[in-house]
Amino acid sequence: MADDYQGPERVLSGVQTSGKLHIGNYLGALRKFVDLQKEVDCFFFLADMHSITVWQDPDALRAQSYNIAASYLAAGVDPDKSTIFHQSAVPAHAELAWIFNCVARLGWLDRMTQFKDKAGKDKERASVGLYTYPVLQAADILVYKATHVPVGEDQKQHLELSRDIAGKFNYDYGVANFFPLPEPLIKGQFGAAGARIMSLRDGTAKMSKSDPSENACLFLADDVDTLARKVKKAKTDPETLPSEPGGLEGRPEAANLVGIYAALSGKTDAEVLADFGGQGFGAFKPALAELVVEKIAPIGDELRRLEADPDYLAGVLRAGAEKASAIADPLVAEVKSIVGFVR
Ligand code: TYM
Repeated sequence: MADDYQGPERVLSGVQTSGKLHIGNYLGALRKFVDLQKEVDCFFFLADMHSITVWQDPDALRAQSYNIAASYLAAGVDPDKSTIFHQSAVPAHAELAWIFNCVARLGWLDRMTQFKDKAGKDKERASVGLYTYPVLQAADILVYKATHVPVGEDQKQHLELSRDIAGKFNYDYGVANFFPLPEPLIKGQFGAAGARIMSLRDGTAKMSKSDPSENACLFLADDVDTLARKVKKAKTDPETLPSEPGGLEGRPEAANLVGIYAALSGKTDAEVLADFGGQGFGAFKPALAELVVEKIAPIGDELRRLEADPDYLAGVLRAGAEKASAIADPLVAEVKSIVGFVR
């Protein structure tokens, strides 16, 4: 569908508050936020409403909400440049989501692979919220008429759905180009590196907050020793590293570790392999551990410092919610009028 939207460029993204952030969240999302805020009007929120699509202990959710806000700031998201807030603090998201529930088609949602993965075999017992989750995501984006959405590769399908919802709303209500068709920004500053970081225990599974093994993830909050230990214990294969990326074919664990090195160092896989090709993991892992510690441990230190100051974090989030509402509330009022609601 052609997009002739004429409005300003605006960036929006969010992270669920369902667990500590890991290096996949950092490379797939947060690091892009930090770059983008220098150039464009940016909205970065904490998706607490998405989190409760699976059970969250309320006290843990509260703590995580501050932990993730602290992670944003520690990674370099700047409250003076970006608008940072909790999704639940801006009711316009939920209001627009309801209207979008009536625009989106069951067939579209039936195709969402993330629902299938998360619901597992027993989908009858999954929450209705988990099913309509991508509709709320479309509302998150379009309630600010965001044009660009920095995310990891796993969110690509949800972004396609957001575009479909925007396009159908514009068409059904005869308001051409009212909503932009938002574009995902999946590649990072250094190309594809970082778009999909895999588990350290299984190179074919995505690194995920919900992985039961602590050793599968490098968390931003891990201390120096933990980061280094996890890299050294990461699953590998017995071969040496190839000297070109083609040689990583069929070696998911090796490909993942090379990818992490590339993303953190700002090199391509080919450049990393030009340096390490022919060497075994006995040489590569200590170099990777050193790089991970250099880049990630300072974020963890800053995170702990910020987490110790919840009043400051609450102030940042309150100010962000006010700024966000100032844009989202009038948009929802306009949408209600387009739909035919009277007040
Ligand atoms: P969430 O909380 O699962 O992940 C947050 C961000 O981190 C990226 N990511 C990864 N990137 C690379 N490798 C990985 N292993 C990895 N794991 C996660 C995700 O792609 C994401 O960018 N549905 C979203 C939250 C959301 C949202 C939105 C995002 C709600 N509304 C509106 C953008 C716009 C999610 O569950 O992300």
